Amino acid sequence: MSYCVFCGKDLRKGGDFVKNTDGALLCKSCVSTASDIFVRKDTSVKGSLKAGDQPNKVNLKQIVRDYSPKKIFDALSEYVIGQETAKKVISLAVYNHYKILSMIDDSDVEFEKSNILLLGPTGSGKTLLARTLSKILRVPFAIGDCTSFTEAGYVGDDVENVLLTLLIDANYEVEEAQKGIVYLDEIDKKTKTSGNVSISRDVSGEGVQQSFLKLIEGTVANVPLAGGRKNPTSQQVVKMDTRHILFICGGAFVGLERIIAKRTRKGAFIGFNNDPQPIDKADYSLFHRAEAEDFMEYGFIPEFIGRLPVKVALNGLGKKEFKRILSEPKNAIVRQYAKLCELDGCELVFEECGLDRIVDIALEKKIGARGLRAVFERILRNDMFMLRENNRKQIVMTAEYVDRQMAHQEEDFMRELREAAGKAADKTSEPLSEKAMALEASAQKDAA
Ligand SMILES: Nc1ncnc2c1ncn2[C@@H]1O[C@H](COP(=O)(O)OP(=O)(O)O)[C@@H](O)[C@H]1O
Ligand SMILES: [Mg+2]
Repeated sequence: MSYCVFCGKDLRKGGDFVKNTDGALLCKSCVSTASDIFVRKDTSVKGSLKAGDQPNKVNLKQIVRDYSPKKIFDALSEYVIGQETAKKVISLAVYNHYKILSMIDDSDVEFEKSNILLLGPTGSGKTLLARTLSKILRVPFAIGDCTSFTEAGYVGDDVENVLLTLLIDANYEVEEAQKGIVYLDEIDKKTKTSGNVSISRDVSGEGVQQSFLKLIEGTVANVPLAGGRKNPTSQQVVKMDTRHILFICGGAFVGLERIIAKRTRKGAFIGFNNDPQPIDKADYSLFHRAEAEDFMEYGFIPEFIGRLPVKVALNGLGKKEFKRILSEPKNAIVRQYAKLCELDGCELVFEECGLDRIVDIALEKKIGARGLRAVFERILRNDMFMLRENNRKQIVMTAEYVDRQMAHQEEDFMRELREAAGKAADKTSEPLSEKAMALEASAQKDAA
């Protein structure tokens, strides 16, 4: 025998190796990869587990026994407000996925994976849904941001990097990671350039779709242990089979509604008064009617869309949902801040009008429910900063309080701006506006 028993490399062609008494060979690269995994596993297990804890194993039979689609739905609803259709579709798809996995050995029926495509405006709960799902089912979970991925040969990350994140979440247990969930965010940024010219596209979009295609469908991927780009000569790679990984893709799909509108309006009715109305406001309700052909026109290759058989649209959230999001979820913002203040001996009291005001401000930001937390943080920033010094016993959050705090923020902000501008004038001849803009940009980033 002259092959490495691990990777199958032909050792007659050279390379260092070790041999056991039976004559089995192990190449140097596999030895070092294995040892590296042991070291990482050791540190990550020690870091995350308390004494006596067992590392979580994914127990498929238990998932299927403990959960029905309805139970998954109910568990999701503890964190995700509204989006009933999306929650229902996802619960069923995920239940089926794990049911199939749990009996895959004793079934001769071939199943296709129910990978999911989530479409909906920013801040409507796409990432939250995927994250909550993995938390409920206690399976390894990873989020990959598609904007950072590029086709091999371009500058950027290889798509396999998301599998490394998954592997780390599974404490480097490859077997466990292979039963996990991967959420690919901003999938809509990886469309090819030719399909739709109205929105600027990444040049390598189609190449990335091709790479994802293989992952999503199921392949044995080479996962670079150090992340970044694959470098076959020096990097250690782990092989991971993606056949049983559930992929959820999400995106805001800006502009897709126009494509759907165009298609559905075509031949709708002929007569007077049927001039197409210009759509000035994105109509997300049209997302529910999206078909494969719309995605193709948007810039996806048909094979890619075909690999995501479960497509579901999320609704844009309005005032009513915003208000519920503030106080209803298990980890609701209102509860979190009340607890934080309580720990410093201060009671945080919420008046209806105060919450309404917060909702209005967050809605104006147009970044979905994501804005709620930012607004909250801004309003309470000053008082929480001085809570201990002032020994304050109560804060009552009324509309006036909210307005006053927001105004304070503006004052502070303007003063900061003026000071920065003044400093800039003293020191350099750079145009002031640039400094001010940079400051504003960083403040906005803070707020978002
Ligand atoms: N439907 C929802 N129910 C509860 N909270 C939500 C919902 N949608 C968004 N949020 C809040 O807004 C934040 C951002 O939402 P996220 O899921 O990341 O949006 P996106 O759809 O852009 O992925 C979440 O962390 C959560 O706090
Ligand atoms: Mg998201």
